[in-house]
Amino acid sequence: AMSAPGATSAAALPPLPAGEHLPALPRLSNETLDAGRFQASLVAAPLVTALWGDARQTTFWAYNGSLPGPLIELWEGDSVDIAFANQLPQPTTIHWHGMPVPPEQDGNPQAPVASGAQRQYRFTLPAGCAGSYWYHPHPHGHTAEQAFRGLAGAVIVRSKADPLRHLPEQHLLLSDLKLDADGQVAANDMADLHDGREGQYVLINGAWQPMIPLAQGERQRWRIWNATSSRIFKLALPAHDMLLVGSDGGLLEQGQPIDSLLLPPGARAELVVTGRFRDGVTAGLISQPYRRGKMMHPEQERDEVLAGIMPHGMRPTQALPARLRPLAPLAEPGFRRRIVLSENMADPKAMFLINGRSYDMNRIDGTGKVGRIEEWEVQGNAHMDHPFHLHGTQFQVLARTVDGVWEDEPFLAWRDVVNVAANESVRLRFVQQQPGLRMFHCHILEHEDQGMMAQIDFL
Ligand code: C2O
Ligand code: CU
Repeated sequence: AMSAPGATSAAALPPLPAGEHLPALPRLSNETLDAGRFQASLVAAPLVTALWGDARQTTFWAYNGSLPGPLIELWEGDSVDIAFANQLPQPTTIHWHGMPVPPEQDGNPQAPVASGAQRQYRFTLPAGCAGSYWYHPHPHGHTAEQAFRGLAGAVIVRSKADPLRHLPEQHLLLSDLKLDADGQVAANDMADLHDGREGQYVLINGAWQPMIPLAQGERQRWRIWNATSSRIFKLALPAHDMLLVGSDGGLLEQGQPIDSLLLPPGARAELVVTGRFRDGVTAGLISQPYRRGKMMHPEQERDEVLAGIMPHGMRPTQALPARLRPLAPLAEPGFRRRIVLSENMADPKAMFLINGRSYDMNRIDGTGKVGRIEEWEVQGNAHMDHPFHLHGTQFQVLARTVDGVWEDEPFLAWRDVVNVAANESVRLRFVQQQPGLRMFHCHILEHEDQGMMAQIDFL
């Protein structure tokens, strides 16, 4: 059903039962004892569950019957072998978001798995790729629907040399649930197709407003995944300290104290949170107002509570190393490109464009060379923010325009998603290490499905 422009589409529903504790993500178990190998099975299938704990049943699509999908924990250098079965009523893929895997294994739209079919995903992780990644479907035209029906899961690649391994870890996978008046996962309406889908409930590890245990002075490492379609979270934790220690592609050189964290769809971050319980501040983890140029949904005007903080016992304050790891800036590029993101609301068949065109499976926007440094200037010639994502590797953001003036990024980080705000330009550098076709697109999944995607063939 389509709603009138400007209307809020999400049905008014009673609150979900609040999560008493932050649920731990179930772990995908390794089916082999061989060192350096990870072998497991994933099944995508419908899942019926009772969200309110009463007679109402909601149908999701889930990996291995869990919402979100099971956490996959790997080590640098692992060879990974996942047997995948598609029990959905439509074709799907598993995309290993942010991971340096060959194109034919990365689950992009070029290699769909038919309904009822199976395939293996096989790849070997290079050294130095420790970080927080995730997996989600990526079939042509149906990525948004499959993700919002529940298909998304976290991946952690660990390093033996992790300087923060002594800290207790919390995992927070953020997703957005939009239900219709019958309590079923709602279809996208016109406003969702324009702006990106927004629902009534932001969930963390599948729970609504769960409580996260934290002690006075305790240091915890939080890994956060934004697996929503379109929410650009401005996360804050006003009663406690936040130190940004990692981005999409693992640790920074040094922790950066922050008051808030802008986390666009698809992106991840690692924080060291220190329990402070500042007097008079009761807010837990909140998302603060951020204007992203929405055309049909209202902008967020107030703080929204995502999770509460529950004081627990006494914990020692763990030491933090001053330097986390060395990062080297990428050198002068061997090749430059300009990528323009734009909107054309006059053409409902091609509303979201990259370099003036909408995606099709045969589109190739040029060739690149494996091992050569590229510098891209990504321009948001648009009214809305579009979080830009590149497959196959991580990039370094060098600079971005603020009110038309270039400003250098304050610190180095490896990323695979960068928010490109309306009328902003972002300069980034990367190297593809493996040959083949690599997608890049807006990670508002409704925009990606509607064509804001392109691909370059690396030779
Ligand atoms: Cu997370 Cu091409 O996507
Ligand atoms: Cu977009």
